[in-house]
Amino acid sequence: MIALIVAHDPNFLIGKNNVLPWHIPEDFALFKQLTINQKILMGRKTMEGINKVLPKRFTYILTTNKSYVFEHPNVAVVHDVDEIREKYQNNEETLFVCGGAEVYKLFLPYADTVYASVMKKTYEGDTFLVDYTKHGFKEVLETEYTDFYFRVYEKE
Ligand SMILES: NC(=O)c1ccc[n+]([C@@H]2O[C@H](COP(=O)([O-])OP(=O)(O)OC[C@H]3O[C@@H](n4cnc5c(N)ncnc54)[C@H](OP(=O)(O)O)[C@@H]3O)[C@@H](O)[C@H]2O)c1
Repeated sequence: MIALIVAHDPNFLIGKNNVLPWHIPEDFALFKQLTINQKILMGRKTMEGINKVLPKRFTYILTTNKSYVFEHPNVAVVHDVDEIREKYQNNEETLFVCGGAEVYKLFLPYADTVYASVMKKTYEGDTFLVDYTKHGFKEVLETEYTDFYFRVYEKE
């Protein structure tokens, strides 16, 4: 299974200067709750923005750079999108794709689920997500939080 997990504003903004445009602890808590003890994948730029290994998760970092080294027992550097996609696409285990924009775009066609925290306000920034709602996903759950709506979409 492949799931995208993302936070975006009403204009599908997701990033600013290689970090998040907002700081919302309630959303971090939700992200942690969903991804703890799971396999997550992120692009090299997002990893550099976070600048730390998220604890109690196994992280794949996607890069084209064959010399990129990241020494950590819970991290694997990967280069081949098809290989990682095939590994999880028909697997019971879920790969949580955690961005950024380039990586979401690559994996959206193969995702079964999108977990989206949709901010109530608009923000300033420079990185946008593709509008996944136009790619055959149906909303199956919505929960309201203080600053955002948490929505779950499933492939129709
Ligand atoms: N709001 C959210 O939920 C959320 C989540 C995550 C990230 N973000 C934001 O998104 C922004 C970063 O997004 P981004 O699109 O600029 O970067 P990104 O998707 O994080 O990383 C892009 C990098 O991934 C690697 N890559 C892309 N396609 C590849 C392929 N086919 N094969 C191998 N490697 C590939 C390349 O690394 P190399 O250049 O090393 O080859 C590329 O430069 C930041 O602002 C971040 O804060 C937001």
